[in-house]
This record gives sequence, structure tokens and C-alpha cells, in this order.
Amino acid sequence: MLSRVKRHSFFFGISIVTLWVFLTFFELRRTALSCRTVASCLGLDIQHWQGYQYPLPTAAEPLETQRTFHDGTLQFRRQLATADPEVLVLLLNRDGTSWSRDFRSGQRGAYDFADLLVSTRLNLSTVSVAMLTSSAEEFDSFSKAMRDLPLARLTIYLRDDDDQGVSYEGRHNPAVQLTRRARLATLRNYLMLSALEDERHVLWLDADVAAISRDVVQTMLARSDSTPAAGIITARCEQHNMENYDKNAWKITPETPLGPVADGDREDAVRTLVDTRLFVPAVIQGSGDDAIMPLDSVGGAILYIRSGLVRQGLTFPPYNVVGTTWSQPGWIGVETEGLCYVARQFEGGGCYVLGGSHHVRHTDWG
Ligand SMILES: *[C@@H]1O[C@H](CO)[C@@H](O)[C@H](O)[C@H]1NC(C)=O
Repeated sequence: MLSRVKRHSFFFGISIVTLWVFLTFFELRRTALSCRTVASCLGLDIQHWQGYQYPLPTAAEPLETQRTFHDGTLQFRRQLATADPEVLVLLLNRDGTSWSRDFRSGQRGAYDFADLLVSTRLNLSTVSVAMLTSSAEEFDSFSKAMRDLPLARLTIYLRDDDDQGVSYEGRHNPAVQLTRRARLATLRNYLMLSALEDERHVLWLDADVAAISRDVVQTMLARSDSTPAAGIITARCEQHNMENYDKNAWKITPETPLGPVADGDREDAVRTLVDTRLFVPAVIQGSGDDAIMPLDSVGGAILYIRSGLVRQGLTFPPYNVVGTTWSQPGWIGVETEGLCYVARQFEGGGCYVLGGSHHVRHTDWG
């Protein structure tokens, strides 16, 4: 009797170990870019740009410079002498945890972002990348991870984060949301206004985006060029168990108060908006891959902005901009949530989402 119990626990133990090995070393969904091949799963595949389809530039070594701005920010820059990028890719990184963790592949890092860039199938010689970080380690490791990519220009800013306390894990707590997003807006503005040069297109990518469906970026650029009104474009953001991860991308319904809201009615207005707004899956339902549908608010997971809008003065509002009066800020619309509200006053400032099957995938954690 005793030996039977022992035998059962032995097999139970073996099954647990087998299951752990299986889940650890094999990517069931074949979507995590850091685990596409067994070699990359095991960390043996360091040629992250192997799948790159464009010839590598043969020009002289890129030029590297480093300098400290008047405000203390450290700027690292690596660029080709012939650099004339069309697309500026922007991302914020607080520290190593910002890359988040993903199914099976554990902690992600700058190399996963390199993989993600290659997976866009863009000609990277037409791309510049700029990152703002508050971590000296990420400042170094990002520059290393990008070294193999034939980017037209890479710019990394290192800047102390004076914002204490909001951890990656605590970031969904509503009490800290407004402060956190106000802070994010100022960081986004700092990065976007510092890094933008002659690029025609700006593309924001969150550090915790793990995968991009095929030709999302190409489709965004094409739609922006073909539709003058579509200066801001996003795409559906999913997570392994969620069709819609991005709760900041939505369309309002006629129930939402469109005019002035009295002070006592502000909470009701927020509640009505939150209860009735349509999220992306509802907005794009039944649409094709070529379609774009209007939105009233966007998130930052993947966010295209036509550079002309930034040059007209479009930035991310660091306060609730909707319903602002002389005496107080408004009742909704901080950071990306207020971008469309502001942008609609600009020429070509319409917000849209790609229809059909286009999407990005957020990491499994967080
Ligand atoms: C990639 O972009 C570079 C820089 O604009 C250009 O010189 C090169 O011809 C492009 N390569 C391809 C294959 O389109």
C-alpha cells in the first residue's frame, strides 16, 4: 500500500518536471519572438537580425557621439553619415522591468526589442530609433542590442526619474493612474520633441509589446499617406487571454456629454463615458485589413503620429484636458487619452484604428 502511494507521488513528480521542462523550453503558440527557434529559446541564437531581408549598408562605420544637455540629460547617438530616416520609432523605458515578462521566455530585454524591429520587415536604413530611460544599465544594453541593426540613427537619452514610487506592478491602481499618466505624458513629450528631426512619421511602441502582426507599420504609413485626415493611427492590442488589452483606445457614443459639464456632474460624465464607450474590437468588427475606423481616444502600445502634427504643436496633455476651465483641469483625457481630443483641432489630426486582423500582442505579464 505504502509503495503504491510512493509510486504515485514519483510519477506525479515526474509529470510536474516534464510539464515544467515542456512549458519552459517550447513555445506553444509560436508567437514570442524571443523563442521562435529552439536555439533562440536556449539563448544560443545571438544573430538577432538573421531574418533581415535588406542588404546591410556598406558605408563607413556609423558615427558615435555622447554629450550632456544643459538639463543634465545624457544623450548617446549613433548614426550613419548618410542618415536620412523616414520613420522615427520612440519608446520609453523606466528600467529593466519595463520590458516585462512573457510566456515561457521569462524576463525580456533590449534584444527582444531588436527582434521586434526586425520582425516589422521595415528597411531599417530608413528608420531611426530613440529611447528615453532612467536606468544606466538599460542605456548601455540598449545601445549594445541595437548595434547589429543597420539603423539610420539611434538616440538614447538617460535622465534621472524624479518620480518615486510607481512600480510597474502598481501601475493599474486607479488612485495612482492620473499622476502616473501625467508623468508619462511629460516623458513622451520630452522624448518626441527632443528626437524628432526630419522624419515624416513617428511611431510609438511600448516596451512591453511582444509581437506585431504582419505589415502593421507598412499599413499605417500607407493609410497616413492615402488619407490626409488620418494623422494618428493605432492598432488593436491583444494579450494571450484578452482580445482587447488596450483600455485607452475607444470611441464615444452619443450618451457621452459632448458639451460643458457642470462641476457637480463630472463624476457622472466620467461614469457614463466609461460605461458606454466602444472598445476597438467592437469598432472594427466586420472590417477588412484595408479599412481604418475613427476613434476618440488611443493608447500607446502602438501609436502612429504624422510628424507634421507634432511640428504644428501636438503633444500629449499632462492633465485631463477634456472640459478644462480657467479654474480647474478637465474630467478626462490625460496623456494618450487626450491626444485625439487635442489633435482634432489640427489639420489632418483625425484618430483611427486599423481594421481587420492587424494587431500587436502585449506581453503576458502585467
Ligand atoms: C533601404 O534604405 C536605404 C536608405 O534609404 C536605401 O539606400 C536602400 O536602397 C533601401 N534598400 C532597399 C532594398 O529598398
